[in-house]
Parts: sequence; structure tokens; C-alpha cells
Amino acid sequence: MNIIPSPLSCECKEGALRVEKFTLSQDDYVNDLQRLNAKIELSPEFFVGPDSTDPKQNEAYALEINKDGIFIKARSQAGVFYAYTTLSQLIANYSCDIPYCSIEDKPRFEYRGFMLDVGRYFMPVDNIKNLIRLCAMHKINKFRLHITEDQGWRMEIKKYPLLTLKGSIRKGTNFSHKQHSGFYTQAQIRQLVEYCRNFNIELIPEIDMPGHSRAAIACYPYLGCFDRDLPVATHWGVKHDILCAGKESTYEFVKNVLDEVCEVFDSRYVHIGGDEAPKLRWEICPHCQKKMAEEGLQNEEQLQSYFVNRLAEYLHSKGKEVMMWNEFSPTFMTDKSIVRQFWSNPSKDQTAIQDELRQGLKYVNSDANCCYLDLPEKNVTLKKGYFFNPVVEGAENGILGIEACLWSEYVPDYKKAVRLTLPRLCALGENMWTDIPSDKKNYDDFLQRLDVHSAYLKNNGYKVSDYSESPTHKIKKFFEWIWFNRRPLHWEGLHNAVDNAHVKRTYGKKYKKIIADIKADVDKNTSDKSDLQ
Ligand code: ACM
Ligand code: ZN
Repeated sequence: MNIIPSPLSCECKEGALRVEKFTLSQDDYVNDLQRLNAKIELSPEFFVGPDSTDPKQNEAYALEINKDGIFIKARSQAGVFYAYTTLSQLIANYSCDIPYCSIEDKPRFEYRGFMLDVGRYFMPVDNIKNLIRLCAMHKINKFRLHITEDQGWRMEIKKYPLLTLKGSIRKGTNFSHKQHSGFYTQAQIRQLVEYCRNFNIELIPEIDMPGHSRAAIACYPYLGCFDRDLPVATHWGVKHDILCAGKESTYEFVKNVLDEVCEVFDSRYVHIGGDEAPKLRWEICPHCQKKMAEEGLQNEEQLQSYFVNRLAEYLHSKGKEVMMWNEFSPTFMTDKSIVRQFWSNPSKDQTAIQDELRQGLKYVNSDANCCYLDLPEKNVTLKKGYFFNPVVEGAENGILGIEACLWSEYVPDYKKAVRLTLPRLCALGENMWTDIPSDKKNYDDFLQRLDVHSAYLKNNGYKVSDYSESPTHKIKKFFEWIWFNRRPLHWEGLHNAVDNAHVKRTYGKKYKKIIADIKADVDKNTSDKSDLQ
């Protein structure tokens, strides 16, 4: 049938049920189902398939259309909502003559996510709501706001007003010298949390730390290793000034921020970033080196593990579960419950990930080759999204799901966000929801359904980008690829190199003696200990 994501099982019968032509509100499914006179049976005993204990059963549903009307069975309101999303597509795609059918459906993964980077570019609340609704149409249940970045801090934190007064303003962008700014009040975020709840979506915050924190450091220079006065970043590229993991004042700041974050976002998860944190500053920072000596940490990677462990412990004490990017490999991670998000990691091979999965670590798979929607279509194709297999062989249970990520360094507005998201999210959404073995996948069938689905999305106000293989589209994709790959021209590489040399010369020299003394002390203590043994 013409449904995306495709249901697990669907039996079509002769005949069709005519429903009155009216526009579904999409925002109020309970009311819509009442208007359709749907009969709903909620039962804790209800399940689909062989395993009644599968936690995903909470989102399962059965939908029966026959001459007597519309019948929905589910275990929870989440299941009723997913029956409704299927039903709305059937009503639209079959012009109000819904074929008689029996559908049984449940998700493949418990984590079906979409990430929006509002750190680089602020996106107005109404536009975010449109993207949330779009996710709901594809049965996605996690919407993650990447809400802090080098280029912008976008969440009001009452204890640290500068974060938004100053940290939300970038003086220029990759595109021009024009200033860009914007942030969300806590009231607006609460509104988004509520909005998501209507759609069985968990709104998850990401406060990216210790890297990607230049906007915060620009507001409160003591957060960096050398209290440097730095501007909010304007351009693309990994920044070397990251949060100082040696000073206790950093932990105090982070905890205070997380207090407010946890109060506003009621999500099960809080994402603490962890990606792209170069250690050049930590290596020559007396605070970081002292902390390493005090805590018996061998290197700066272990200092990041220590940082993560402390944050995770704090978040657990507030009843939260923790997520972080996996490219940083914690060398003595005590907390195995942290959910890792895989994106791309040339230095970490699949075997290492398999080992971690076998040890019981959990992963969300956002392999950049298939899930990064900001990358050109020439690289991240629709087909790749459809065939992407996130599961690691031998460790099937460790993969909680998939998350599609829309980074916004080159996505300045909603229009472009939708252009990049559709139709690729349709393929990824089906991959997240529908459990079809790879050898049973049928791309041609998907494309046929996508033709119908595109009209459905268009009627709901979403423009779907061209996905044909026409020569003009191929040429367009090629030029987009060229346009995107001029990125190095915006990279602050030269600036970083000059600045790093300056930092090394100034602070490296200044603290050389202190650091040498700290290291000598550590060496002495170690040899004293071994003498005693
Ligand atoms: C990432 O793309 N830096 C997670
Ligand atoms: Zn430091």
C-alpha cells in the first residue's frame, strides 16, 4: 500500500470505506480520530508478533478498515498515534476511499531520531514545529536539538545571561559578514517539549562539551584554559579553545547549566556532545595538568573520560540517561550506560565498536555516509539511506536505532533545511521503522510509494526535492557537490595554525616550569610507590 514508512504487515481486501472529505488537523489526532468515528481499543495485553515482552510493543498498533468503519488496537496512546499517522496517509493517498485492510505494525528500533543543529543557525520556533510534524509523519520519536555550538549558544540560561546576550550572536557567517543571532527562551523550549509530546516525540537537548564551546567561552573566558578573550566563532572548522577540564569552576558552570537544561527538557536522555575536542590547550594548561596529576590520569584523552564520567554521574543523579558522540574513545569510561552515537571514525575500526557492543555498550547509528543530511546528495544518496544497515553483526541488540542529522553550517534557513531533508528522511524514516531484511528490500517499490508520498507531503506544505535520475538533476547534484566542497576555503585552518603557535609561545612558555614540576611530582610519587612494593 502507499504508506511510508511501510507497515510490518498489511492485508488488503476487496472494497473500500468512504470517509467524509475533510482536512485532518495533524496537530490534534485525538480529535481527528473522534471525527472519523474510529473505534479504539486500548489494552495492555495487545502485542504484535511473537514477543510480548519487547519494549517496542508500546508503539505497536493494529488498524482494521472494513465496511463497519475504522478499528484501532494498541497498548498505549503511542500506538494509537501511529495508527493515526498511517490512517492519515491512507485517507490522503486513496482520496477518501480507504481500501479495506488489516494492518499490523510495530517499530524496528526504539530510537528513531532526527537532529537539528540550531547552534550554527538559529531557526524560528514555528519552523522547528514544522520539522517536528514532518518527523512525526515518518514515525520518528526523538527530535534532538543541537543547541550550543562554537558559532552560537541558543538556549536561555537564567544563571548565565551572557550566554544568550552575547553568545547567541555571530558577527559573520560562511556566507557573509552579516551578523546572525537568535536564541530560545526557556518558555519557548517548554512549548516545543509540549508540542513534541502530542506526537510521541521526545525532545532531547545536546549541550556540546568540552569541544564546540567557543560561544560559551566568548561570554565567560574563565571557561577556557587561559582565560582568553575570544569572539563567538564565525566560520566553519574545529576550534582549539575548548572548556578547561582542570578548573573546578568549569564543572560548576556545566552543572548549573545542566540544572536548567534538565528542568526545561523533560527528556529521558541528555546529549553531552564529546566530539571534536582537540587537546592542544589541555596539554599546556597548568589546571588541566594538575587535575590529571591529582586524579592519576595518564593523558589528555583520560582527562576527557574523567570530564565525561563526572557529567554523566551528575546527570544520573538527576534521573537522566546520557548520550554522546562516539568518536572520542573514552579510555577509562566507568559508565557503560552512556549511549554512544556513531557518526564517522576513521581511527576507530568496526572491530573496536563490535567489542564495545559485546561488552554491552549501546549505540545509535548516525553514520555520516548515510545519515548526514547536510552533505550533498551526490555523497549521501536517497538509495544509501534506504539500504543503510545500522546493525553491527554479532551485536544486534546493541544498536538502539538510527538518527538522521542536519548540521547547519551550510543550512541558513528552513527552506534549505527542508530541501536537504526531503526526500532523504523518507528513506531513513522507513529504515528506522520498518523491519525488512536487507535482501527483501525493494527500492523500486519504495520509489513508487515515494511518488505518492511526495504529493501527500506537498499537500501538507512540504516541498520534496527532485529525486529523479534525470540528466538535469544529475548536473544540479554535481554543482551542489562542487559548491559544498569549497568548504576548506571557509575553514579557519590558517588562523588556527597561527593562533596555536601564539598560544604555545605565550602560555607554553609561561607554564612550562609549573607543568614540568607537576610531571616531576607525578614521576616521583610513582617511583616512591613502586619502591614500597
Ligand atoms: C560531528 O559530526 N562532529 C558529530
Ligand atoms: Zn585547562
